Formats: sequence, structure tokens, C-alpha cells
Amino acid sequence: MQIISCSHGKHIGKLIAKNLRMKHSYLNVSKFPDDELRVRFDLRLQNKDVVLVQSFYKNISDCIIEAILAAKTAHELKAKRIILVAPYFPYLRQDKRFLNGEAVSQEIIADLIGKYFDEVFVIDPHMHRTKKLQQIFKIKSAKITSNSLIADYIKHNIKNPMIIGPDEESYKWAKNVADTLGIESRILKKKRYSSYHVEVRLNKKIDLHNKNAVIVDDIVSTGHTILETAKILKKLKAKKIYCICIHGIFAEGALNKLEKAGIKVISTNTIPNKVAKIDVSVAIAEDFKK
Ligand code: R5P
Repeated sequence: MQIISCSHGKHIGKLIAKNLRMKHSYLNVSKFPDDELRVRFDLRLQNKDVVLVQSFYKNISDCIIEAILAAKTAHELKAKRIILVAPYFPYLRQDKRFLNGEAVSQEIIADLIGKYFDEVFVIDPHMHRTKKLQQIFKIKSAKITSNSLIADYIKHNIKNPMIIGPDEESYKWAKNVADTLGIESRILKKKRYSSYHVEVRLNKKIDLHNKNAVIVDDIVSTGHTILETAKILKKLKAKKIYCICIHGIFAEGALNKLEKAGIKVISTNTIPNKVAKIDVSVAIAEDFKK
């Protein structure tokens, strides 16, 4: 098996290979003057199982094209199997036609990736109305969760925590982490009006006396969900407010805004950033060993 990091998988591909005691290399990626991508493998792939690691953040469209160019080329170079490890897989939130005429991007992007890869592993995919990866990918697919790593982080770093899920979709992470730790959790209600306008409210009273509130969610993008949740937790006199997310997208300076609001933010390293303290390469390697 050969583990190869694409341009947005470098921060984690090497760690996965180290955990598996396997060889690691990088996909050679550059751009032509007109902004088109050029990818090249520097090693022989014939008869090998090739694992391409690509996290789809920032220039997401480029990330997708790069992964497709690499997978198709690996196929032409006679790789045996071509596997995608996607620490962050994009477009999963657009899982229905919210407005007339809109693209259901989740299906389209999964379909496109599925045309070029034999198998895909996704870390904590955002699944809401679609329950399983198998419903969107026609190829073999598996999800890997970072829940136990998050629980472990809380156990060793945060005293007297109460886990808060900011919306119904977050229970898969918030409740699961709380259950693993054997502590309480509360899931709040959220109504989203637009990308920038969300309303979060309590559905039951929460006693946060002497407790550190730990908001657990899969994605932080603009940060509005967390900011609105933190407003409620402040009113409830939480000792300190933490936010632990899996995919720290932190669009448009979100991390700064959250820190300015007094929230201590921690994420996993599915997307590299300065608060990526939880290393999911361990969970990926464990899954591969199976
Ligand atoms: C959606 O339900 C996700 O779990 C997150 O809550 C959401 O993506 C966060 O987005 P934002 O940070 O822009 O509020």
C-alpha cells in the first residue's frame, strides 16, 4: 500500500503513514500560468493499492479537480486499487433542494468522486437527511469518527464539563461524546435563515452552575451557530465556554470572532489551523489496520 498526500492532505497523510508504519510520498502539484492544475506521481504505482489523502477545504473546486486528475492518472499507471481518504469531505450539507432549481450538490459531488475512486473513507461526514454514506456513494465507502478522541481530549483537559449540542444535527457528536464520558449533554434548537443568520434557543432549562460548557459540533464555518449558542450559555452563567469541532473551516475570520467572544476553540486536524489539537490520523490508522 502506498500513501500519497495530495496538496490539501499533506498535514495529515504523513501522520497516517507514520501510525501505520507505511511509506509516504507527496503528489507533485503545480499550476500552469493560466491557473490550470498539473499533477504528477514521482513513483511507480503499478499493482499497488494507492491511498490518496485529500482534505477538501479552501479552494474546494481545485481540491476536487486535483483528486480526480490524480485518481484517473493512478488508474492509467495501473494501480491496483485507488482509495480516497478525505479528512473533510465537502458539499455534504447541501443534501436537498432547499430552494426551487437548486443543485443537490451532495449527490453530484459524491457521484463525481465515485467515478474515479474504488473506495472512500470520510472522517465524520455531515449526514443529516441522508443517513448513510452508502446512500450517496456508489463505491465502497466508510466513515471514521473522531468522537472517542474528542472525549479523551475533554477528559484530560476540561474540568466539570457539560456537553452542549447547538442543534439537532449535532447530537451524533455531542450526545455520543457525553455518553462516552458518562456525563450530561443538552441539545439546543436552531433555526437557520441564511448562511449568516441563525437563531439558537433552549428547549429545556440547563443548570450550568460551576460547570464549563463545552459546545460540540461537527463543522464551524462562519461561526454564527457557536456565537449564538455561546450567548445563551453566558446568560446561564457557564464558568467558561469551550467549542470543540471536528472540521474547523473558520470561514471569513470566524476563529478570531469566536476567540474575541471569549470562547476557547479546539478542533481536530481534518483541516489544518492553529487550534487543531486533536489528531485524527490515529483513528484513520486504526480503521485501516482492521
Ligand atoms: C450544520 O448543521 C453544522 O453542523 C454546523 O452547525 C454548521 O455548519 C455551522 O455553520 P456556521 O459556523 O456557519 O454557523
